Amino acid sequence: MATIIGVTSGAGMMHNGRAMPLPVPPSKLPAVGTTIFTVMSRLAAEHGAINLSQGFPDFAPPPRLIERVGHHMAAGANQYAPMAGAASLREAIAQKVETLYGARYDVEGEITVTAGATQAIYTAVAAFVRPGDEVIVFAPVYDSYVPAIELNGGRAVFATLRHPDYRPDWDEVAALITARTRMIIINTPHNPSGAVWDDADMAALQRLTQGTGIIVVADEVYEHMVYDGVRHESVMRHPGLRERSIAVSSFGKTYHITGWKIAYCLAPRELMAEFRKAHQYVVFAVNHPMQLALADFMREQPSFATELAPFYQDKRDFFRRELDGSGFRLLPCAGTYFQLAAYEALSGLPDIEFARRLTVDHGVGAIPVSVFTPGGEDHRIVRFCFAKGEATLAAAGERLRRVARITA
Ligand SMILES: Cc1ncc(COP(=O)(O)O)c(C=O)c1O
Repeated sequence: MATIIGVTSGAGMMHNGRAMPLPVPPSKLPAVGTTIFTVMSRLAAEHGAINLSQGFPDFAPPPRLIERVGHHMAAGANQYAPMAGAASLREAIAQKVETLYGARYDVEGEITVTAGATQAIYTAVAAFVRPGDEVIVFAPVYDSYVPAIELNGGRAVFATLRHPDYRPDWDEVAALITARTRMIIINTPHNPSGAVWDDADMAALQRLTQGTGIIVVADEVYEHMVYDGVRHESVMRHPGLRERSIAVSSFGKTYHITGWKIAYCLAPRELMAEFRKAHQYVVFAVNHPMQLALADFMREQPSFATELAPFYQDKRDFFRRELDGSGFRLLPCAGTYFQLAAYEALSGLPDIEFARRLTVDHGVGAIPVSVFTPGGEDHRIVRFCFAKGEATLAAAGERLRRVARITA
């Protein structure tokens, strides 16, 4: 139990022999509870369900990467890394984005290694958003964005990614931009929908932000998971966007190491200078041996990242085939390692209840998509993560094919 200035939290202070309630101020995040990812993963574990809810692989990272971590630990890289990240890793990142996106970023001033994409996004918001500022996000929205905005006094303004194709509506976005709009946070490829923005989307975003002071935070953690020959449209490819953007990616997603919580971001020098002012007090520096190991691995095997698309496309196709003959209707999946499935043929239950019953009674964990929208808009869709070995996906497929009606 945590202790706060000599008072044990939970026990309360004593006054005239009576317990007084602790002076806990009103919550800054009154609507926030435990994330659905934790709730569903816990439920899956409790009921021995196959956990296709939370987004993480059930297979190992490349052995060579782990070997390099051991090497650097043994070699003594166990103290603080440089605040911006190990130079060798920043060099490897610069090389990668130049090769992939034709974008040149300065290793010294324009690249920072972070403790996960979550921290990069939080820090970007903390660095730029002031009380009263508006930040446009697209709903369904990844769960960390809105709390980051609100903790920093900003107001989230929701643009809609409309079911069923989850495309942005640029006329709506134009109407949402005001003099108070400080930032727009985008996410492509998109969690949870699997939708991928195209060149026209990036052109529209560029047009709308041109001549404004709006900063774009581009959450591109699934940059290497884009399928069927489609190209990932990074903000880094588009000079008119690049100049106002903080591009964020995550080693966790690319190298099957979500547990290492290590990511990076890139931005033009002036933006990055402000980002780092916050970064050095939010986290200061990120674990050192992992950074050095990633730098080695990126140098040795640059194609690992680009081979991720065929690797995951095979998994997507395998999982979709497994669901042939089930009562689920699969939505298109252009990117990410998430597959959306509509279940109207199986149940009229709200998606949260359906996902719970699927986990408890049928042994497969999933995420209800309504939790990603501010109003809990429910289209009776659940999200499955297919970043799993074939045996796991086949076992889940078998269980999902057996699901008949689920009623209250
Ligand atoms: C869209 C999106 N952004 C950010 C993250 C977080 O990445 P990290 O684990 O590197 O903090 C995730 C993880 O699921 C995600 O899906």
